[in-house]
Formats: sequence, structure tokens, C-alpha cells
Amino acid sequence: LLFVNAGMVQFVPYFLGQQTPPFRRAVSVQKCIRTPDIDEVGKTSRHGTFFQMNGNFSFGDYFKEGAIPFAWDLATKPLDRGGFGLDPERIWVTVYLDDDEAAEIWRRTGVPVERIVRRGKKDNFWSMGIPGPAGPCSELYYDRGPEYGREGGPAVDEDRYLEFWNLVFMQYDIADVRGKEEFRILGELPAKNIDTGMGLERMAAILQGVDNLYEIDEVRPILDRAAELTGRRYGARSSHVASESHPDDVRLRVVADHVRTSLMLIGDGVIPSNEGRGYVLRRIMRRAIRAIRLLGWQDRALPELLPVARDCMAPSYPELAEEFDRISSYAYAEEDAFLSTLRAGTTILDTAIAETRRAGRAAISGEKAFQLHDTYGFPIDLTLEIAAEQGLQVDEEGFRRLMADQRARAKADAQARKTGHLDLSAYR
Ligand code: ALA
Repeated sequence: LLFVNAGMVQFVPYFLGQQTPPFRRAVSVQKCIRTPDIDEVGKTSRHGTFFQMNGNFSFGDYFKEGAIPFAWDLATKPLDRGGFGLDPERIWVTVYLDDDEAAEIWRRTGVPVERIVRRGKKDNFWSMGIPGPAGPCSELYYDRGPEYGREGGPAVDEDRYLEFWNLVFMQYDIADVRGKEEFRILGELPAKNIDTGMGLERMAAILQGVDNLYEIDEVRPILDRAAELTGRRYGARSSHVASESHPDDVRLRVVADHVRTSLMLIGDGVIPSNEGRGYVLRRIMRRAIRAIRLLGWQDRALPELLPVARDCMAPSYPELAEEFDRISSYAYAEEDAFLSTLRAGTTILDTAIAETRRAGRAAISGEKAFQLHDTYGFPIDLTLEIAAEQGLQVDEEGFRRLMADQRARAKADAQARKTGHLDLSAYR
């Protein structure tokens, strides 16, 4: 894993029976990063690249008969008695296709059968996406009401029916993972375990009565500052449905989400770079900077936004305030470098776009994309993104061919330095 993507990650050796846990039950609040859905950020109400996962865990202690009533109790108990006070009538649950046992426990706990939905592997079998512990799961959804979307339960509309808690019945060891539905079950784990994940931001959105993750108290101030800088009015459209949002609102949410994520990543020691985690961070920062430019802000944005993100998060993570000098110097330097890249590349790209249009072609040539990358440090994903905004494609295959040629030349050069003989075929 490049990043911790769930609360259970550090507990894997306990689930697999490789280590004996010092306790049989645990609870945690875990910082998580997930980027596969990065394109959904701001367009739905519920996708964030950084989020906190609340979890309770059992290592061979309680199983389904414990986890289900625990979740129900905490979700529905009134606030003044330590619960989240959700209306039981609005909660729907899902169980894995053949998990009669979980369905029966839910029924006994008080959920009517009409609100117990069975779903397949894609939705109700959880793994980390890599070999290791896995199992069928059962999810809790909160119905936010007709203003948020269509009737019919979580299978119909996951923005209206917001998943807020996933209970995983960790029971199997899996291998050969090729996708959510493609893996091989090696066998049973030594014990039956529980792993749960409640989205802190999603629960906050429900409790604070806001429409989405970007409007909760830990994120909204960043969004508001970005709106203020760019003179945009957030939420001018009255709809609660995220997919009906104005494009400006989507961009403001992207800025808020990505700035917070950048703060948390650098805070945890990731540094912008061209590979691995550093590259994910770099892409997230660039997406934030691009989004605010598209909203009309051309200057440095992070010195305006990062301190706001710090003030949102430091009450929970004081090290962000203590280490803010280190964090912000990486962030601001990265923004400066990217802004000069943008300045150099954008003119060239604009010309290329105009030429492509004049020539009546649908795609920017591979040579142009390569030149932008090679001479101006303009990353291909950015070229692709800007071209797409202009309704154009990019000859990616041509670009990749030129990249491969360049690599071959670099290799020949390195070889020549070692042997004194230059392989000219790489230069054809
Ligand atoms: N590990 C489970 C999840 O991430 C709880 O949804």
C-alpha cells in the first residue's frame, strides 16, 4: 500500500495470526488517504482524498452478534446518552448475498426486512485491494430524504442514502487479487474478527446537517477562503444534489479537499516528488492549484489557504501547528515551481490548441505533448486535462513512443560513458 487506506491496516498481523495482539478489542480514529475516486471529489457529496476512519475491532473476540448491535446502539442512542442520535427509521443496512446470519441479527436488532438489502461482492465483500485478510461486510446507510435524490435504498442512490459505517466480518485470507470481485480465497483466518470503519467526515456531515463532506467544520473554512479570494459565491444553486452543482462549486470543493490533504500528507512526512507517494501528493497539490486558477486566482494560493487548513486540523493534530514552518515551506516551494512551469507551458499549449483546431484535427500531436514535457516540464496528465477542457484529445501513443525513444537514448548515453562506445541506433 502507498498509503494507509483503512483503520485496519496496522492490525493485519493480528488478523492473520502472525502476531498475538496485546488486547482483544480496540477502537481507533485513523487518518486515511484514498485516491482511486479522486475524479469524484466535489462532484458527489461523499468522496474525499483524506478522511478519518473511526473503527472498532475484535481480534477473535466478539463477531457479528456483537458488532451489529454495537453499531446500532451507537448510531441510534440519543446524543445525551453518548450515541449519535440518528433516527432508526432512516437507517438502511446491506449484507452480503448469502449472509443470512447477519440479516437475521439485523432483523432481531430492530431493522425491518424492507430496509435490509442484499448485495454482491462488489459492494459487500471487503479487502484492502491486495492479498491478506478480507471478508463479507454489512454497511449502514442514512436516508437524507427526498431532496437528496431518488427513493429506493442504497442500491438506487448512494448520495441520498449515505453510507456511514462499514462492518467487516474478517474471516478469510485472500490471494491473487485482481479487482473487487476477482480474488481467490486461500482459507479461513485462525479466528473470526471484526473490522469496522465509520467515516468521521460523513458522520459529521449528517450531524451538522450539511450537504456534503466539504461543508463540515473541518473543511468549510478552506472552501470559504477560496471563494473569498476568487470572488465566487458558493452554493448559489439551491439544490442539495451534488451532481447538480455549479462547476464553480465543484472546483471550490476540490480546492478545499486537496489543500487539506496536502497539509495532512506533508505533515506525515510525504514530500512532493516524481514517484510513489510524493507523486500522488504532487498531483493533488497541482489539481488544487489548477482548480483555483480556473476560478480566476492567478497568484500563489497556498499561503492563503494552508494556514486556514492548519487552523481547522490542528485542534485534533497539534503537530500540524508545531511543524507548520516545515510543512508550509515544502508546500509553498512546490507551488512556486508549479506556477513557473504553468507560465512557461501554458502559452505553448494554448498555441498548440489553436493550431490543432485550425488544422481541423481532434488531437494535439504526440510531438507537442512531448516537447511540453521535455522542454517545459509540463506533465502529460496536465496536458491531457487542459486539452480535455478544450474538447481536444492528445496523441498519447505518439507521446509514449517519444518518451520510450528518449529513455533508449539516455540508456545508450549512460552505456557510452561506461564503455566509450556510443550505440547510434538509439539516435535514429
Ligand atoms: N476496512 C473497512 C473499510 O475500509 C471497514 O471500509
